[in-house]
Amino acid sequence: MKLIFLGPPGAGKGTQAVKIAEKYQIAHISTGDMLRAEMREGTKLGNEAKSLIDRGELVPDDVILGMVKNRIQKEDCKNGFLFDGFPRTIAQAEALEEISAIDYVINLDVPAERLISRISGRRMCAECGAGYHVSTYADANCKCGAALYQREDDKEETVRNRLVVYERSTKPLIEYYTRKGLLHTVNGDASIDVVDAAIRAVLSK
Ligand code: AP5
Ligand code: MG
Repeated sequence: MKLIFLGPPGAGKGTQAVKIAEKYQIAHISTGDMLRAEMREGTKLGNEAKSLIDRGELVPDDVILGMVKNRIQKEDCKNGFLFDGFPRTIAQAEALEEISAIDYVINLDVPAERLISRISGRRMCAECGAGYHVSTYADANCKCGAALYQREDDKEETVRNRLVVYERSTKPLIEYYTRKGLLHTVNGDASIDVVDAAIRAVLSK
């Protein structure tokens, strides 16, 4: 199965992707997580991406496409994969069509006013990539034991620009994938388990 999770920053793409990738035994490919790993390792790509990510701007399409093409060659993609945060521009979607077919595009729909509070309370684990929210998880450490941190681009000013960039560059993909007959919109403004069940219902059709 080959999936795309689409949605604005804070919609719950990463939270839901972990669950669905596990259920269907497919690779979870988050371009954001891949870029953050490059930044942590201090690679040339990571250093170049950092100034864009910290401002809430997109990383150039050719950089992202190079990363994704390499990634889907890996053994763990044999069963399929779930793209979380990719594609993010029409150009990325068109390029993806040249390299792989897609079975479903899940669009997580969450009202804008909910996104800021979700993101500002988010804490991440650098070791296992798990994400939490301070309102439901008060520990300073992840369940795996590693320390939690707040993403550099989760500061309110940056988040506001990420939302503007989403409206301008990524939201047009809703129309793009509707025309292809692939888009399924799921209400993301419900509990994590309810959203998970709604996504599973779409995928079991
Ligand atoms: P990326 O890491 O992809 O960030 P994003 O798209 O902005 O999305 P987020 O990760 O912020 O949100 P999410 O939808 O995953 O929500 P989450 O599940 O964590 O990209 C970061 C940057 O990298 C970009 O700005 C760009 O610069 C660059 N980049 C990445 N991909 C790129 C590409 N393809 N092209 C160009 N540039 C690219 O949930 C958020 C919070 O809400 C958490 O605290 C969570 O616990 C909580 N939560 C989740 N679901 C629920 C729920 N149902 N109810 C209550 N709380 C919930
Ligand atoms: Mg995410």
